[in-house]
Amino acid sequence: MKECTILVTGGAGYIGSHTVIELLNNNCQVIIVDDLSNSNKKVLDRIEKITGVHPIFYPISICDKDALSLIFTTHKINAVIHFAAFKAVGESVQKPLDYYKNNVSGCLLLLQIMQEYSVKTIVFSSSATVYGQPKEVPVKENSKISPQSPYGFTKMMIEQILTDIYHADKSWNIAILRYFNPVGAHRSGLIGENPNGIPNNLMPYIAQVATGKLDYLQIFGNDYITKDGTGVRDYIHVVDLAIGHIKALKYFDFKSKVGQMITLNLGTGIGCSVLDVVKTFEKASGKSIPYKILPRRSGDVAEYYADATLAKQVLGFQTRFNLDDMCCDTWRWQINNPEGY
Ligand code: UD1
Repeated sequence: MKECTILVTGGAGYIGSHTVIELLNNNCQVIIVDDLSNSNKKVLDRIEKITGVHPIFYPISICDKDALSLIFTTHKINAVIHFAAFKAVGESVQKPLDYYKNNVSGCLLLLQIMQEYSVKTIVFSSSATVYGQPKEVPVKENSKISPQSPYGFTKMMIEQILTDIYHADKSWNIAILRYFNPVGAHRSGLIGENPNGIPNNLMPYIAQVATGKLDYLQIFGNDYITKDGTGVRDYIHVVDLAIGHIKALKYFDFKSKVGQMITLNLGTGIGCSVLDVVKTFEKASGKSIPYKILPRRSGDVAEYYADATLAKQVLGFQTRFNLDDMCCDTWRWQINNPEGY
């Protein structure tokens, strides 16, 4: 990985910033492209504090073709990790055009420019959301794809575009990584998830209940057919997830003229219920998490977790952090940064 220059779109965001740290730890040169629509510039100083390196940063949108092209002219880029995207499921239902434009058109522009400059290695940030309502758990990569929201469809469409590109030109290296539920924060407590407004997702919501910023957790349903009636998910520590991207890049042989395409789940393979997360967070923080049971949230599935064997076979990827670590690290980030960055 030495002397590799990696362009990270969305590199100031939650998963992007953790991945940038792992790239820098692996002696890569990193160029971040991020329009800061859902991230904060201060993350760059935090990355420098952790790694000693201030990554090169361009505050532009991936939809700005000229600005993006200029970056490829200025730097000799070896590979791209593409995170930049809108990611709120509910919002995507309200604003489908914004999602298709930013996520799908933005990615198309990026891929066109990559082709123009013969940069043919990409790691794409997909999501387990492409599986929709899974027929069986654990969910395997060859399970039926059936997204339930415009957001999920943007991920599915990009997966299809990448598949077609690879079929047309086998010199591309393409990794599609389907994340389960990323949570946690860097152990330093300096970077973490920084949701705008009231969080949609479970872990940041619980963290804000623990600090007293929110009064209580609303648990959406306790009548699912799961071990305790609450929803079951596969929570994966964001640092493990970040390392998955490094392993995907290392898997590609940059010197070979023959490319490869892989589609992999990144999860722990372990399902945890909402109540498991509540109890573990209480232990990690020493705070009690009051909650109320509400009706099910529309669009939620009862249970899904990854079949994580393929990523282990192909990349040697294995998660290191458990739910205790995820809660402890979230809590450290939350108390050190109660108002975010
Ligand atoms: C959601 C997104 C998914 C995205 C993922 C990122 C949907 C339908 N899917 O997944 O595309 O990749 O976030 O992590 O939104 N819960 C509560 N109370 C809360 C929040 C959540 O009880 O305030 C429950 C949910 O019902 C669910 C579990 O906690 O059982 C996890 O929810 P959440 O963190 O929102 O993630 P997902 O819905 O799995």
